[in-house]
Amino acid sequence: MRHLISITDLSVSEIDELLRTGEDIIKHPDAYAHRADGKKLATLFFEPSTRTRLSFEAAMHELGGSVIGFSAANSSSASKGESVSDTIRVVGCYADIIAMRHPQEGAPLAAVRRSVAPIINAGDGGHQHPTQTLTDLLTLKREKGRLDHLKIGMCGDLKYGRTVHSLIEAMSRYEGTEFILISPKELRVPAHILKELDKAGIPYREAESLEEEIGGLDALYMTRIQGERFADMDEYLRLKDSYVLDPAKMAMAKADMIVMHPLPRVNEIDTDVDDDPRACYFKQVWYGKIIRMALILKLLAEKHMDYVSNVHGEKFEDGTVCKNPRCITQTEQGIKHMFLRDRDGACRCMYCEHSK
Ligand code: CP
Repeated sequence: MRHLISITDLSVSEIDELLRTGEDIIKHPDAYAHRADGKKLATLFFEPSTRTRLSFEAAMHELGGSVIGFSAANSSSASKGESVSDTIRVVGCYADIIAMRHPQEGAPLAAVRRSVAPIINAGDGGHQHPTQTLTDLLTLKREKGRLDHLKIGMCGDLKYGRTVHSLIEAMSRYEGTEFILISPKELRVPAHILKELDKAGIPYREAESLEEEIGGLDALYMTRIQGERFADMDEYLRLKDSYVLDPAKMAMAKADMIVMHPLPRVNEIDTDVDDDPRACYFKQVWYGKIIRMALILKLLAEKHMDYVSNVHGEKFEDGTVCKNPRCITQTEQGIKHMFLRDRDGACRCMYCEHSK
């Protein structure tokens, strides 16, 4: 069964093929109107969403298919204690393909064990969000005309911002990418991601001032401070207004810099920026529906293929458990606590990727 759990499950040529399909959908939408006739998508959202769930649903309708699902854990039997694996096994009896969002990190990978339908990770806690990344890549391709040789500034909550983690992994694979990682020191990109950048020799710099960096960027990826992921609410209140992009800061940016944001926005982009032609975040929403149409078609067509997770490292279990309180292994029944060991001996949880 082919699934999309991490953006690294797709090769660069597969990503490029999805982007080409997306561009073809934009040019010839009518040609896609019946491509998924008779097929059902299940949207299982254990955590709130506006864009991801509705864009998946709109995408399936535009392909001629139909949609079932739920939009909150408390309207499913998860509220009675049903495991992710059992839920997925049951939904596989009703649907041809499943998009799931879950607050626990690694939940989609746990779901794969029992699924008879392709699973798409629609966001797992603060871990990953691969379909937002496909959205971001289509936006960059359409608005900048290329995916290589881009200097990308990522600004805000780079610790809990799952869209940032997946986008870094994706853009690292394109030649000439450079990252400027702008965050308060408490919300820096997780160490395992920086380590991968170091190993691959990808240029990046961590910074705290948006004003000092904005002038050199080709694209600025703003993110919300993710209040729901903080264990300490006082820390959230202290950091929540760390960055606000406003017309004064936009005046320091290049004339062709684009502003992206996965949304929802809270107050990190002043609404006065919305009419700036460089503001792309609402176009990005539309690209999200297009690329999800392309992805649904790909996974339905490749349903028979094996899922080969492209995670690096030697798998092992040693009787210990993951220490991340948000990891799916903390609650899921019947799950083995598997870890991955890098070549340099560092170990991390196979599901949530937190250090052991
Ligand atoms: N970008 C994104 O994931 O938005 P939602 O949380 O509304 O789905």
